[in-house]
Amino acid sequence: MLYGKKAVSFYGLYDRRDKKSRNMYNEVDFNKIDLSLAAPQEEPERQYYFIAKCRETVQELKQEAGRELTFHVETFGCQMNARDSEKLTAILKEIGYQESEHEVCDLVLYNTCTVRENANLKVYGHLGHLKKEKKKNPYMLIGLCGCMMQESHVVEKLKESYRFVDFVFGTHNVFKLAEILYHRLASGGQIIDIWDSTEQIVENLPSERKFPFKTGVNIMYGCNNFCSYCIVPYVRGRERSREPKEILREIEALVADGVVEVMLLGQNVNSYGKNLAEPMSFAELLKEVEQVEGLKRIRFMTSHPKDLSDELIAVMAGSKKICKHFHLPLQCGCSRLLEDMNRHYTKEQYLELVAKLRRAMPDLSITTDIIVGYPGETEEDFLETIDVVKQVQYDSAYTFIYSRRSGTPAASREQVPQEVVKERFNRLLAVVNEISKERTARLTGSVQEVLVESIDDHDDTMVTGRLENSIQVHFKGSKEDIGQFRKVYLREAKGFYYFGEVVQ
Ligand code: 5AD
Ligand code: SF4
Repeated sequence: MLYGKKAVSFYGLYDRRDKKSRNMYNEVDFNKIDLSLAAPQEEPERQYYFIAKCRETVQELKQEAGRELTFHVETFGCQMNARDSEKLTAILKEIGYQESEHEVCDLVLYNTCTVRENANLKVYGHLGHLKKEKKKNPYMLIGLCGCMMQESHVVEKLKESYRFVDFVFGTHNVFKLAEILYHRLASGGQIIDIWDSTEQIVENLPSERKFPFKTGVNIMYGCNNFCSYCIVPYVRGRERSREPKEILREIEALVADGVVEVMLLGQNVNSYGKNLAEPMSFAELLKEVEQVEGLKRIRFMTSHPKDLSDELIAVMAGSKKICKHFHLPLQCGCSRLLEDMNRHYTKEQYLELVAKLRRAMPDLSITTDIIVGYPGETEEDFLETIDVVKQVQYDSAYTFIYSRRSGTPAASREQVPQEVVKERFNRLLAVVNEISKERTARLTGSVQEVLVESIDDHDDTMVTGRLENSIQVHFKGSKEDIGQFRKVYLREAKGFYYFGEVVQ
């Protein structure tokens, strides 16, 4: 359990403990919660109460069914959603459901994404399939949460045409799963609970992680940037940073529980801390995280180029733990379109930033996001993007076809014809892949530290791990290697990964 152990106290500047920080999740004994009383008003106590309530009901259902009840959380989208899903999973386990690998089970929860249209379509596809399954299983519940639920047209559609969906909640009240589920179990009707916004960050709820040795840690939620193509600020709300002491306490507890690598998560980590009562920069936070004893690797994403400070570059260059890797979304190489996108940098400023990063950290890996076919993109504009890709030499790039999101400023502009976009997309992909292969191969013949993640999917005498720059390495090993750092000779680059040999 994430908060299952007390860690050595290190709060640096932030040794201000309030009532909530003393009331840690590991102190909760759900059997001792008095369910004859009304639900507490304060969080997270209110959710502890509803977890205990759900436990009772689920226990009764299991007895009635004469078997265990299972759940499955299906995640779409980004790392933030993946982290939310780990929290949702822990709550469902606490309630008494058993995790299943299969979507067809007693409670399936879709944590949705809406950044591009095809993510939405996938969800409707899955729902169509589940409708038939639900008819066969009287215990089956279907829940939906995440970004897509923050769009009113989606919720209207669910109310009208998807009555078999049992409960729906959004991004601002994701902590309320137990309460919402309890109301569904008690009432039997469709429960829809969507908030427009929130100032609240609920700490100390149950949480778990996919890998025992690494995890994501949210440092902030929401986004204030309103890039003209992007729906995220509308569905995730305004920027809210977590208190540094809460972040540090979580990381200390994680490290005490075996974590050696954390990924600090936010839509725009470079503007971390601006809205705190006592403002703090992201670089200052990193310095604090670096002090956590036992933590070996620190990653973060995503960085907006406009907010990347010299202070951050200096902290990173001087750090032994921060991985020398920047995910620095470019989106487009044309200054005119960048302005239209509301990105607040030009092609030249982006290239200068990359040059500055490479001067400070010559071995730095840089990855990026690029959108092809943004409204108004001409062949010349597109060639500017290709030019930046060639100049920067990205280790890898996530390339996306522009997807029209209703409600965003770019949606009403003149769109580029699909066949033109597809042709450009394929051209970009070819350039990106070629560079990426060359960049990957540059470490061939060197010895690097690899954090081993799992037994190899294709050969169980091999293991798979990741380099500091996130590239995968496969080498001979066993389950004893999992979660350990190994020094590995990188024998052969195979496109986007390596084969290697342990040297110690
Ligand atoms: N269409 C295509 N890609 C998008 N992204 C965000 N909005 C859209 C959109 N409407 C991409 C951006 C962002 C990444 C997470 O998703 O490149 O960095
Ligand atoms: Fe979307 Fe721009 Fe915010 Fe990233 S920075 S989440 S692209 S609005």
